[in-house]
Amino acid sequence: MWHGRFKQSMAEIVKDFTQSLDIDWRMAECDIEGSMAHVKMLGETGILKPDEALKIENGLTKVLDEIKNGKFTPSKDLEDVHMNIEARLTEIEPLGSKLHTARSRNDQVATTTRLYLRERLNILSEELNELLKVLISNSERHLKIIIPGYTHMQQAQPVSMGHYWLAWFENFYRDRTRLNSALESLNECPLGAGALAGSTLPINREMTSEILKFKNPTRNSLDTVANRDYMADFHYFASMLMIHISRLCNDLITWNSQEFAFVILPDEFCTGSSMMPQKKNPDVLELSRGKTGQVIGNFMDLLINLKGLPMTYNRDLQEDKRGLWNSLDTIENVIKIMSELLSKVEINQEIALSGLNKGFSLATDIAEFLVMRGVPFREAHEIVGKFVGWCIENNLRPENLNLSEWKKFIPEADEELLKILSPFESVKRRNTYGGTGFEQVERQIEEAKGRI
Ligand code: ARG
Repeated sequence: MWHGRFKQSMAEIVKDFTQSLDIDWRMAECDIEGSMAHVKMLGETGILKPDEALKIENGLTKVLDEIKNGKFTPSKDLEDVHMNIEARLTEIEPLGSKLHTARSRNDQVATTTRLYLRERLNILSEELNELLKVLISNSERHLKIIIPGYTHMQQAQPVSMGHYWLAWFENFYRDRTRLNSALESLNECPLGAGALAGSTLPINREMTSEILKFKNPTRNSLDTVANRDYMADFHYFASMLMIHISRLCNDLITWNSQEFAFVILPDEFCTGSSMMPQKKNPDVLELSRGKTGQVIGNFMDLLINLKGLPMTYNRDLQEDKRGLWNSLDTIENVIKIMSELLSKVEINQEIALSGLNKGFSLATDIAEFLVMRGVPFREAHEIVGKFVGWCIENNLRPENLNLSEWKKFIPEADEELLKILSPFESVKRRNTYGGTGFEQVERQIEEAKGRI
């Protein structure tokens, strides 16, 4: 494409080193979409004659068909997807050599990549919505199931499993907001920025932007060819999503272990061991957790690439896509498999409750009972703390004590206290806004349905 300037052709080793075809070929259809808009604009503005533009459009349609039918074998000699398509177009239609008028690969790459990323993000958005729906329906299924809530991995207070699922709903809902913001930041059309400075030809950038359904053309041509912020915005979304996935997976892996054992994973999503016949391993959860590193790594890869890059385009930027694809593919697979797996997770209520009988997760309820009887909270806290210590020393469980034993420590104890001291009552009574009380969770479920 640039042999005019050179006496010798490019060394083979350099061709191999500089090509990006293996990475960017997957954007072929988007590249044609961008070229179609560009050539339409060249025709409308009179830069090309209307029939020239039409012939080029027809040629592009033929190339597109060849790609779709798997008949197009691109060559690494032509560096990238953009030059391969243009070369094939020009073979089919010699006027193809006019397509690159008022365009550089710098604005072309940026346009094609934004189109491709937009397409994938729209699909991801739907898949993320599925995940949100699964979490809502899990919350409905498990509303009245009670599990220990933990802080510091120590039993803290009992919570509704429905409440737990909705906690993840909030996380993934924020991810969806970040996804939308990534979509927003790519929503400007780079076409017409040229190599870096625009064009002397009377192009119409609004027109191409409109045809390609962008909100508006990018505002500064130098920024346009140097900018990869929209990719970083995607990576931030992807990294946060995977961080959430990895934390969720870790909970389920832990609660599925024999020591906790209240989470039951679907057989179809687990693997066995080649040696130990008893094993049912949570490999899908572990792999999802394990893929988090790649996705965060891809984010770092881009940030480090961008750091200190001079204005404007530098070839370093060609390295921006490998990690982008890896993260797109990874999170799409993870979201899909996690949605299916989560919809089949069951809870063993009996085991969860028997686990609760090992801790003192109702201690706050006792203290709050005392508060209602007029005892200052700090005092109540100390009284109950001593009571718990006494139970531990004497190997006693509060639920087995009779009233007179209670009164030794807590003179205010009465039938009312005994009545509220069950995990079920404890959850039910935490009826503050956003709390774990069943009424609250039911309200959250209804709200969540309206939010997706
Ligand atoms: N293959 C290159 C890329 O993907 C095309 C851009 C080349 N631009 C240039 N000025 N050499 O970034």
